[in-house]
Amino acid sequence: MHSSLLDWALHAAGLRAASTQTTPAERACLARHAAGRRALVEIGVMHGATTRLLCAAAAPEGQVTAVDPFPPGRLGVSFEYALSRREVARGRGARCRFMRETSAGALAGWGDPIDFLFIDADHSWEGIAHDWHGWTPFVVEGGLVALHDSRPIPDRTVYDTVRFTETVVLPDPAFTVVEAVDSLTVLRRVAPAAR
Ligand SMILES: C[S@@+](CC[C@H](N)C(=O)[O-])C[C@H]1O[C@@H](n2cnc3c(N)ncnc32)[C@H](O)[C@@H]1O
Repeated sequence: MHSSLLDWALHAAGLRAASTQTTPAERACLARHAAGRRALVEIGVMHGATTRLLCAAAAPEGQVTAVDPFPPGRLGVSFEYALSRREVARGRGARCRFMRETSAGALAGWGDPIDFLFIDADHSWEGIAHDWHGWTPFVVEGGLVALHDSRPIPDRTVYDTVRFTETVVLPDPAFTVVEAVDSLTVLRRVAPAAR
């Protein structure tokens, strides 16, 4: 979904909230598990609603890295990018570092440990497979991975992310499920990554 100039203007005027497809229960779950974390990465930002939430939940000295390419629209600019930056600026808490890149682009130069990873980007099989296999090796033992649209819920498309979670993620012995709420699954790394 790409935001229009109208979305951007209504958000600027305080007349429209940042959009998110997460449910209230999913947001509460994200906040619970992101609490006090220091090295957070979100893949798939859109309006920055969950980015803002992660910044507020994280340790104040922590950092949230927010990865999204924010492709420009017809006018050659991304109003979604501007909107998400403003949404995060309206919040408080940990610093946010925007990486205006695809997941693959951000991963190409990545070398830092992660203690909270939220994946909510490309919902195709190839997309989630890339994000899971590419990013989770950086998640430290005890660190958490939250996967949106990883469980079927009423009135929501069953994306490949659901099938990938059932087929690849849940059987992975390096992770254990700590909570599942609506379409969100939160897993803890219980064994070191084989790199
Ligand atoms: C469902 S939205 C994210 C919503 C946000 N996490 C929230 O809950 O409010 C998915 C986002 O993923 C981004 N996206 C799609 N493919 C991507 C990729 N390959 N790398 C990074 N982001 C991608 C899209 O631009 C879109 O903004």
